[in-house]
Amino acid sequence: MLPTLESLSEALGGLNSCRILLRADFNVPLGDDGQIADDFRIKAALPTIRWLTGQGAEVVACSHLGRPDGQADPRYSLAPIQARLRELAPGVELLENLRFDSGETGNDDRLVQQLVDGCHGYVNDAFGASHRAHASIVGPPQYRPSAAGRLLAKEVEVLLGLRTKPKRPFVAVLGGAKVSDKLGVIDALLETADEVMIGGGMCFTFLAARGHGVGDSLLQPDQIEACGRLLQSGAPIRLPSDITALAPGERVVQAGVDLRPDWRGLDIGPGTAAEFSDLIAEAGTVLWNGPMGLFEDPRFAAGTKVVAQALAESRAFTVVGGGDSAAAVRQFGLDREMDHVSTGGGASLELIEQGDLPGLKALRESVGTQEENRNA
Ligand code: 3PG
Repeated sequence: MLPTLESLSEALGGLNSCRILLRADFNVPLGDDGQIADDFRIKAALPTIRWLTGQGAEVVACSHLGRPDGQADPRYSLAPIQARLRELAPGVELLENLRFDSGETGNDDRLVQQLVDGCHGYVNDAFGASHRAHASIVGPPQYRPSAAGRLLAKEVEVLLGLRTKPKRPFVAVLGGAKVSDKLGVIDALLETADEVMIGGGMCFTFLAARGHGVGDSLLQPDQIEACGRLLQSGAPIRLPSDITALAPGERVVQAGVDLRPDWRGLDIGPGTAAEFSDLIAEAGTVLWNGPMGLFEDPRFAAGTKVVAQALAESRAFTVVGGGDSAAAVRQFGLDREMDHVSTGGGASLELIEQGDLPGLKALRESVGTQEENRNA
């Protein structure tokens, strides 16, 4: 069980006038103009912020943005986020990008002490960063009573629920470019899912393992064997039956699953999109992670769009993993039709795969838990 905001308040004898360090994941996409392109991660932290301030706490928020190299870099300044936060949650302080200090990724105790200094308690609401054993994630719970924020608690409840009690049939739709990033999660999902559908760039390594010609499509030759083993194991994996490809001369062609050498598969075909949609329509639970094709290019967006639409229309409990698929449902204006859109990309995959994250473990082991207080 993760310590809750209520248990933190109890541990501190109420939060009025307490200074609370809030680790959020404000790693939002920025446009070419340096302005916030999508503020969903800021809005997602508001329930926790509002609860804390409603209890009279003073909130000091902190986050990383991008991957600066342990030193201040104006391209990764949190200034635009600070401005947006001021509009959405006036009075909340925001520290500068944690990764401007190499102690963040290095989990340096010096930085941890600096962060907790003057704070009475710590709240982790940075689900998207909780798979990182970084200073601001795993450090503060060693020194201050701590809690999971509302967003973190919800993400964990939904994503772990997929491992333990999915309503059946439970189907997963996985896409994205690299199969090597997803083999672990595919293995974990095959323990519980009734069917795993595979699209996106990674389907070509599976198709190659089945002996198909994948032309000039994305391929990870060193993963063909692992994909082949999975297919031979009789696991319920469904691969595309047709592909939308780009042929020389910028021609978009509809093909089966054997592509000519100079064709590049960039989306699942309409037949596959319809098959996947039928399975989604009949499901009790659907997990979707990773686009079905190069959806940023309208010529190759159809597969991703059809799958997103099928989730939106399905009566199933629908969960969209963070990262690109979450961006896709927002781009199509379908995010409100989903039961849960995760704010975590790597974190959601790792939680489904491992069943735990460093940030969650740190909270469970935090000082001043309700349990300790009861036994004191
Ligand atoms: C994310 O965007 O997935 C999180 O903010 C984590 O960012 P990171 O991969 O740079 O640690």
